[in-house]
Amino acid sequence: MKKLLIALLLVTFTTPFVRSDEGMWIPLLIEKFNIEIMQEKGFKLTAEDIYSVNRACMKDGVMIFGGGCTAELISPEGLLITNHHCGYGSIQSHSSLEHDYLTDGFWAMSREEELPNPGLTVTFLKYMEDVTDRVMNGVNKRMSEDEKNEIIEANISAIVAEATEGNHFSAFVRPFYMGNQFFLFVNETYRDVRLVGAPPSAIGKFGGDTDNWMWPRHTGDFSLFRIYAGKDNMPADYSEDNIPYEPAYYFPISLNGVDEGDFTMVFGYPGGTSQYVPSYHISMLTDYIYPKMIELREKKLDIIKEDMDADPEVRIKYSSKAASISNSWKRWIGEKSGIEKLGTIDKKKEFEKEFTAWVKEKRKREKNYGHLLTSYKSLYEQMQEYSLVNSYTSETIGRSGVEAINMASAFIPLVEAVNNEVGDDELQIILEGLSSRISRFFHNYNMPTDRKLFVAMLELYGKNLDEKWQVPEYKELYKSCNGNFAVIADDIYTQSVFTNHEKAAQFVSNFDSRLISELEIDPLYILARGVRVFLDERVRDKYIEVSGKIANLDRLYMKAQMEFAGDEVLWPDANFTLRVAYGEVGGYESRDAVYYTHYTTLEGIMEKDNPEIYDYDVPDKLKELYYAKDYGRYGQNGKMPVCFIADNHTTGGNSGSPVINAEGHLIGVNFDRAWEGVMSDLMFNPEQSRNISLDIRYALFLIDKFAGAGYLLDEMTIVE
Ligand code: ARG
Ligand code: ASP
Repeated sequence: MKKLLIALLLVTFTTPFVRSDEGMWIPLLIEKFNIEIMQEKGFKLTAEDIYSVNRACMKDGVMIFGGGCTAELISPEGLLITNHHCGYGSIQSHSSLEHDYLTDGFWAMSREEELPNPGLTVTFLKYMEDVTDRVMNGVNKRMSEDEKNEIIEANISAIVAEATEGNHFSAFVRPFYMGNQFFLFVNETYRDVRLVGAPPSAIGKFGGDTDNWMWPRHTGDFSLFRIYAGKDNMPADYSEDNIPYEPAYYFPISLNGVDEGDFTMVFGYPGGTSQYVPSYHISMLTDYIYPKMIELREKKLDIIKEDMDADPEVRIKYSSKAASISNSWKRWIGEKSGIEKLGTIDKKKEFEKEFTAWVKEKRKREKNYGHLLTSYKSLYEQMQEYSLVNSYTSETIGRSGVEAINMASAFIPLVEAVNNEVGDDELQIILEGLSSRISRFFHNYNMPTDRKLFVAMLELYGKNLDEKWQVPEYKELYKSCNGNFAVIADDIYTQSVFTNHEKAAQFVSNFDSRLISELEIDPLYILARGVRVFLDERVRDKYIEVSGKIANLDRLYMKAQMEFAGDEVLWPDANFTLRVAYGEVGGYESRDAVYYTHYTTLEGIMEKDNPEIYDYDVPDKLKELYYAKDYGRYGQNGKMPVCFIADNHTTGGNSGSPVINAEGHLIGVNFDRAWEGVMSDLMFNPEQSRNISLDIRYALFLIDKFAGAGYLLDEMTIVE
């Protein structure tokens, strides 16, 4: 028996193996590393069904949606599904107090009613290719890191140029395993994407920021769009003559639901993870950066939410901004507590000890890798400083801080152009850009809210950032009012061009270069310019230098970790390229004695119902359907399933990703992760890391029974 066991162990340790369920895998390499495990777990299809360049497959039905989400096709006529929070910007842009699609939802009852969204695109992957050898061609060990990087860049440009020559595709090469491997991605982007349907926020954003990142969850987080193409089915700018895009692949939809232990796969675009960083990186985040950023965002949210609650117009204008401020804020809190509970830093340190012992075993290893952890230590000491200055400045008085200061900074190029006496044509281009920026900006701007933010942000900036990192112009303003920003805010905000739509628009439309001097004495402009100069001169270069040095160490440390892992295949950190995650449906123990089951139902929505709170105000129509138990073929055992969880390893960007069952059918749409395991970007915790998906049956039920848009189901392939 013992002999047999040893023999078995030997066998498993000499063939490559992967840790079950963790990881975001490369579609091209599924065949090599993952398909056997996936099939063992129940998957009935082949690697070619997921990714192939020879025939239509799932990858042809999955897209990048907008800037940072995933979507999938669900009909042969270009109909796609993604999250409500991914379509939110588009839904909001069509909303006003008269047509409040955020509150009431929107359903096109015919193709003519579908709403175009200028600027919204979807991007398909045509093919990917390992180009490591070509990228590294000409690089040798004797070169400095800078020399190496220069050759790498030049090789990449050549590869991209070749891939896009004579076609309408776009391409990029992205580093994997911290630059130890490189893949080429060739993409096709469609530019006419129209809004087809979205439930009211009371469904699509049910539970709002309170339930965000939490399980049990009851959010109907989906929206529908349709891709339009030119007559030849090729990408085209918006035109009334465009026709629905005919895809190579779309997902059949299963009404069979999920059971505990069922195989699931998520196929989408995870944005970024940091699984292989040293412990210093994690302590930088949780001990140094997050606490300050959390405090900052809390303040912002308090101010914005107060005004949103008081005025429905402000609610519409700021809902999207508030959601995005809140989203990372809450994730940081969750990550920090998860990391503390799991003892992630200690686990990393333990790993580093074992790693160091392994390095010490051989002279060559010692020579190549012996310096890594000590070098990291001193670099991270600098890094945390620059990182904080960068983020904190940006979030208070920089690009993502006070809005009027941000508006002011948009005028810097204009002032510079005038001072440099550029020609009229160039000036005209700048003015046109500014004019459209102004109308977008003021569409969602509320001056009194921003004025409060101004006072709060300037106070926090002075309090939390070491004086040596404060912008000189800020210090002067501080002195001029003795740190009492509330006293000067009124004057600044009533006089400025940057806080008033009419004034700003007029300034640009009646532009006269003599007016520049007016801007140059505006305190908001002075501050905006000060921030720009300070960051450029004092911070950016050092930041880039230190992060460049860390990136060089990362490349080496990753290489070392792969060697140290032996036969275990490590998955590459997410980098917003198409990935496969697989695992199984299952609940988890949240805390001592509290076990959460794997699915939620409409009963839970009724339990949370509270007409007093915007985010929990269940629509009457949904209540009627609930009381009548009118679930049609979408219900199960007399209940209406809403969401479910599984242990697929996902991250930001995976929102909207198809969740696929063993047969390759769509059973859900991924949209979130559960609080206790949200630190999975830094370390996956199989016990508690869970992705949250909308049960596709709830989406169909809402389209059909709630919205009365059942005609949309006719174009889908539904498997019962
Ligand atoms: N936490 C999810 C993700 O990171 C959903 C965010 C949108 N919802 C919200 N209430 N802010 O994108
Ligand atoms: N909600 C995230 C997204 O928008 C998904 C996640 O972080 O789990 O991509």
